[in-house]
Amino acid sequence: MKLLVVGSGGREHAIIKKLKENTTITEMYALPGNGGIGRDAICVDKDPKDVAGVAAFAKEAGIDYAVVAPDDPLVLGCVDALEAEGIPCFGPRANAAIIEGSKVFSKNLMKKYGIPTAAYEVFDDMEAALSYLDTAPIPTVIKADGLALGKGVIIAQTREEAKQAVVSMMQDKMFGSSGDHIVVEEFLTGPEVSVLSFTDGNVVVPMISSMDHKRAGDNDTGLNTGGMGTVAPNPYYTPAVAERCMQEIFLPTIRAMAAEGRPFKGCLYFGLMLTPDGPKVIEYNCRFGDPETQVVLPLLESDLLTVMQAVTNGTLADTPVTFSDKHACCVIMASKGYPQAYEKGFPMTIPADIWPQVYVAGAKEKDGVLLTNGGRVLGATAVADSLSDAITAAYGLVERISFDNAYYRHDIGAKALQAKEV
Ligand code: AMP
Ligand code: GLY
Repeated sequence: MKLLVVGSGGREHAIIKKLKENTTITEMYALPGNGGIGRDAICVDKDPKDVAGVAAFAKEAGIDYAVVAPDDPLVLGCVDALEAEGIPCFGPRANAAIIEGSKVFSKNLMKKYGIPTAAYEVFDDMEAALSYLDTAPIPTVIKADGLALGKGVIIAQTREEAKQAVVSMMQDKMFGSSGDHIVVEEFLTGPEVSVLSFTDGNVVVPMISSMDHKRAGDNDTGLNTGGMGTVAPNPYYTPAVAERCMQEIFLPTIRAMAAEGRPFKGCLYFGLMLTPDGPKVIEYNCRFGDPETQVVLPLLESDLLTVMQAVTNGTLADTPVTFSDKHACCVIMASKGYPQAYEKGFPMTIPADIWPQVYVAGAKEKDGVLLTNGGRVLGATAVADSLSDAITAAYGLVERISFDNAYYRHDIGAKALQAKEV
């Protein structure tokens, strides 16, 4: 079988490595991939946002099955374009990917179907938003409607900050047209949990839970990033919480999307906050999380291709999906300066024996050497019987990898470890 994975990050590398455990796969393509992924797949130098170009390539290459991993191509209709060429895909069509593509859509969906989330108001007029903020409870959260590389969320501690955020989004167009409409929402508190799920539009199968570490610095300080590390499972996500999420959030969401004529097939990511009033949705993503995938897939015992095809074919109810009861920890090694300016082009040393545990996010290959080529450079994942062993082992991997200007957090998993001890 010839497979295509659309995307270029650590998430895509993890998907590719897991898929390749299936020996019926004879050719694996990544579009565009990166230098590291190029050691496990054939990289295709094309723009994943040119969805017609992706579909044309897939047709010409005789691709049998495609996985579309990133948000942008999904929201732009990459799955629709591939399906139009007769290529079966893993991922939602554009009309379902809107659950991530528009925060206004997802908030209105939750309100209509009674799915617990932060209280909110939508604004498309700046003056109305500003006058609302004269009396809104503080802190408050301002969100740009559209995709904004995970940066379209501002938590404002004061009224002034909140108003500034509104002006940056709606007047200064800090996130382009994503800020034409904004959501102002209630500030929630509680531990955060990421739950990725497989869904074929009818059945929803949650994967093992995980915990992201979004801030750049130790002890959750510094700027928000795409994610600096993850652990799985998330200790706050007890069986009782899981059952409540299934009944109050997961099933109602799948049914709501079907009722709206937008059946969701693929990986639906629930970003949850366990508030004193129960679990609430912080955000939906229409795709696997990054770096959640780098801890979740290493714990998946079932064959990934089989599960993905069941999602595509609508037969998930008949397909077993099992996870190991071990623990995983992924530490992201970034370029110093990320998420702001950083240098790139430094040679990377990754010992061959740990390559299966390394997911490359930002690298290019030059004369047989991998050079850093991004903010997040790679993730190193260890699996062990206990969380503390997984953390120690992941940092053991990090110590064996080197490149100039490498930066990583030293406390990935520390909060989870504390939660387990309480
Ligand atoms: P997002 O880009 O939607 O994942 O949001 C980024 C981060 O902002 C989340 O992981 C939360 O930590 C935080 N956040 C988003 N919405 C809220 C909210 N309503 N209350 C408190 N924190 C929030
Ligand atoms: N790690 C968060 C995300 O993938 O959006």
